[in-house]
Amino acid sequence: MIEIKDLRFSAPADDEGGGVQDIVKGMDYTFEEGKFYGITGPNGSGKTTLAKLIMGINQPTGGTIRFQGEDISRLPITDRANMGIAYSFQNAARFKGLTFRDLLAIAAGTDDEDKLMEIIARVGICSMDFLDKPVDAKLSGGEIKKIELATTIARNPKVAIYDEPDTGIDLWTIGPMVDLLKKEQRDYKTTTLVVSHNRSFLEAADAILLIKDGRIGYSGDFEGAVPILTDLSVCGFTDSCEGVADVRCYR
Ligand SMILES: Nc1ncnc2c1ncn2[C@@H]1O[C@H](COP(=O)(O)OP(=O)(O)OP(=O)(O)O)[C@@H](O)[C@H]1O
Ligand SMILES: [Mg+2]
Repeated sequence: MIEIKDLRFSAPADDEGGGVQDIVKGMDYTFEEGKFYGITGPNGSGKTTLAKLIMGINQPTGGTIRFQGEDISRLPITDRANMGIAYSFQNAARFKGLTFRDLLAIAAGTDDEDKLMEIIARVGICSMDFLDKPVDAKLSGGEIKKIELATTIARNPKVAIYDEPDTGIDLWTIGPMVDLLKKEQRDYKTTTLVVSHNRSFLEAADAILLIKDGRIGYSGDFEGAVPILTDLSVCGFTDSCEGVADVRCYR
């Protein structure tokens, strides 16, 4: 479905020397159609960068990405979106002057009230009033994440990439959110990639990818990932204590 080969991304280093820093350092993996993937790993390890490379928000500096057999490595975001890849940002954008209804209508390709109602019901928003909320700075962090989720789902994508969908979401909503994404996967055969530090998402995944320092440190089932995630708690995984904040969520 999505095949990445020796995928690499480098960016200018922060220093003044004009050097580069390697952020994704050669990843190989095949995401299979209709499966649910949990992508995890310490802060700064390259998870968002990998997700953005697949969507085309970042362009790779090496390697290839194939989608349904076609090389999409150099295609712009819009082409990849038209092919059926959708992306939900870790930090969702806010738009002054637009309402949730506007965004949803753009994503769904229709402003039909019944269709919009069906979509917001799918993400567990029960009030039509919510549709007329402006998507501006006044929205709470959790509300904006739900809107982001709804607009991704509204596209009925073949591949849905969610970058930390649970950030800012109340604890009671995380379980239903996992159920929702699993249901979308089942009902629409959506290949689902969820970047998360949350155990609920990881347990629900068909396969886990553990990103470590720009590489895939582990891929396989959740049970196999647990010892490595546990190791993180003693900082062995990163050789520093940067992973500690993540690890608290795994317990
Ligand atoms: N375009 C860029 N230019 C320079 N540095 C970048 C760029 N994109 C990412 N980085 C750096 O690459 C590293 C990995 O970033 P990334 O956002 O992929 O991490 P992450 O694994 O998603 O972390 P988190 O769990 O905190 O979300 C970070 O140190 C980040 O500052
Ligand atoms: Mg990230």
